[in-house]
Amino acid sequence: MKVLLVGSGGREHSLVWKIGQSPRVSKLFCAPGNAGIAQMAECIDTPPTDLEGLATFADGNGIDLTVVGPELPLAMGIVDLFEERGLRIFGPHREAAEIEGSKVFCKDLLRKYGVPTAQYGAFNDRDEAAAYIDSIGAPIVVKADGLAAGKGVIPSMAKEDALKALDTIMVEKALGDAGKRVVIEEFLVGEEASFIVLTDGEAVVPLASSQDHKPIYDGDRGPNTGGMGAYSPAPVVTEEVHRKIMEEIMIPTIRGMASEGRPYRGVLYSGLMIKDGQPRVLEFNARFGDPENQPIMMRMKGDIVPLLEACINGNLQGSIDWDPRWAVCVVMASKGYPGSYEKNKVIRGLDRVAEMEDVFVFHAGTAGEGADIVTNGGRVLGVTGLGEDVKGAIDLTYSAVKKIQWDGAYYRSDIGKRALDRLQ
Ligand code: AMP
Ligand code: GLY
Repeated sequence: MKVLLVGSGGREHSLVWKIGQSPRVSKLFCAPGNAGIAQMAECIDTPPTDLEGLATFADGNGIDLTVVGPELPLAMGIVDLFEERGLRIFGPHREAAEIEGSKVFCKDLLRKYGVPTAQYGAFNDRDEAAAYIDSIGAPIVVKADGLAAGKGVIPSMAKEDALKALDTIMVEKALGDAGKRVVIEEFLVGEEASFIVLTDGEAVVPLASSQDHKPIYDGDRGPNTGGMGAYSPAPVVTEEVHRKIMEEIMIPTIRGMASEGRPYRGVLYSGLMIKDGQPRVLEFNARFGDPENQPIMMRMKGDIVPLLEACINGNLQGSIDWDPRWAVCVVMASKGYPGSYEKNKVIRGLDRVAEMEDVFVFHAGTAGEGADIVTNGGRVLGVTGLGEDVKGAIDLTYSAVKKIQWDGAYYRSDIGKRALDRLQ
């Protein structure tokens, strides 16, 4: 079968890598891809938001299955459009993708179906929101309703900062229409984990647990990024926590979506805060995680394609086998990220890492330039390694990271440390 992958990041490279291993796949395309993806798929020059262009390509090239990486095309209704054209596609419909696209919708759903999450208020009026902040006090979190590329969540330790954040979103309209409404939320403490499931709208099959590292600097300091590294499994997700996440969060949410007339089909990602063994939802995403998907794909055994198809066909069942080893992904980024950064720096050392066992370099912001591979984004590479224990995975991954250089490469040096501390 022919498969089209939509997107260009590390998450997409790990999907292409895994889907490409399926004996059922004869040809893989990616729109638009990156330099790493180009080594295993034919990249086409169509942006993920050109839904018409993608549908026309899929139609004209006999694509049997399309898999969507990023949230924006899902929120724009790529699944609805493909289905109208009789094309098979993995992912939630537009109305179901609102679980990520509207934080107000998500929070109201969670409240209605009794899913544990932070207390909150939802507002489309600045003064009412300010009065709520005033009455609750700090610490508190201000969240723009819509998609804001990771910039829409502002935790504040002081009331004045929360009010400032509110004005940035609702008065200065720094995030455009995404900030027309806001959620003001109780500040949760605990340890974060990512829990991601496949679902056909009814059956729910979990992927391995994982943990992201959002802040740019070591020790979780500095501004949030798309994610500077991840590991799987997450020791904070014990068997008991896993059971609670499934029974109290994932299954009721998917049932709730069906009851709302928005059956959810595809991959559902929950960002969780876990305290004293009790998980609570921070957010839902309608897609695979980035960089969580890189270690998760490295650990997934068996063929992913029948699972994706079962989600579409409504006959998902069983469970997934996982490599018992640990996987750690260290993101190498351009100096300056998540602020402004330079591009087009020649990346060296990839050939040396290619010779290593149990390590794979997933590309994110890279491009080919002649014989060179150059930087082309904020997050550039996701170096991912396997180990018998978490320390082994960390050591192997960093030994690979150290072989790769470019002018201005930056990475955190403490990815996986929390798992290591917890297990020691
Ligand atoms: P979100 O996009 O909602 O996951 O938010 C991004 C990050 O903000 C999360 O990974 C958390 O680190 C943080 N965050 C979001 N909501 C809360 C909350 N209610 N309490 C504390 N931190 C939060
Ligand atoms: N790693 C965070 C996300 O995928 O949203």
